[in-house]
Amino acid sequence: MTAVIYRSKHGYTKKIAEAISKELNAELFSIKGAKNLDTSKYDSFVLGSSICAGMFGGKGDFLKFYQKISDKKISIFTVGMTNPTDGEYYKKLDDMNFASFNLKNNAKVFHLMGGIDYKELGFLTKKLMGMIVGQIEKKENKTEEDEKMLKMKTEKVDLFKEEDIIPLIQFIKG
Ligand SMILES: Cc1cc2nc3c(=O)[nH]c(=O)nc-3n(C[C@H](O)[C@H](O)[C@H](O)COP(=O)(O)O)c2cc1C
Repeated sequence: MTAVIYRSKHGYTKKIAEAISKELNAELFSIKGAKNLDTSKYDSFVLGSSICAGMFGGKGDFLKFYQKISDKKISIFTVGMTNPTDGEYYKKLDDMNFASFNLKNNAKVFHLMGGIDYKELGFLTKKLMGMIVGQIEKKENKTEEDEKMLKMKTEKVDLFKEEDIIPLIQFIKG
């Protein structure tokens, strides 16, 4: 049996966690709801949260939980607006967020794209997003994701695709 544990601010990670748990017939918990979970019931875990300013949200809570289950099969997933093909970005992100997890072969980190609804954001966050969009506007060769990101200021953007979870599912099943 697998347990999927997530943290989500605006619901995008939750939606992905739901898709993963459906695919794995797993039980689904928020990180807060999993505080007193009897982990001995499960042989594998999926842990997921969104990236906020380069940090894996709720990292401290996830690390505490991870330390209880580190001998099981574990997929960790991040949800952000940075394309997973940006290896340099995610190398830094992994070093900063997951070095303290001391991951072994039984655990692997996956990076997924989420979404954002500009209208839901506060004043400062809107400004930050405006800066990110500004950087994309300057790019000469824009990817499909870049084009979607440019729409972020006028409409809700969701870059998650169901097939993106396949490698994570295969890791847990393998
Ligand atoms: C304040 C803020 C900061 C963010 N920082 C990053 C970031 O550093 N890197 C990134 O790839 N995405 C970043 N994002 C995008 C979020 O990770 C993305 O919107 C995600 O889907 C949110 O998921 P959630 O609703 O489950 O929290 C940021 C979003 C917000 C609102």
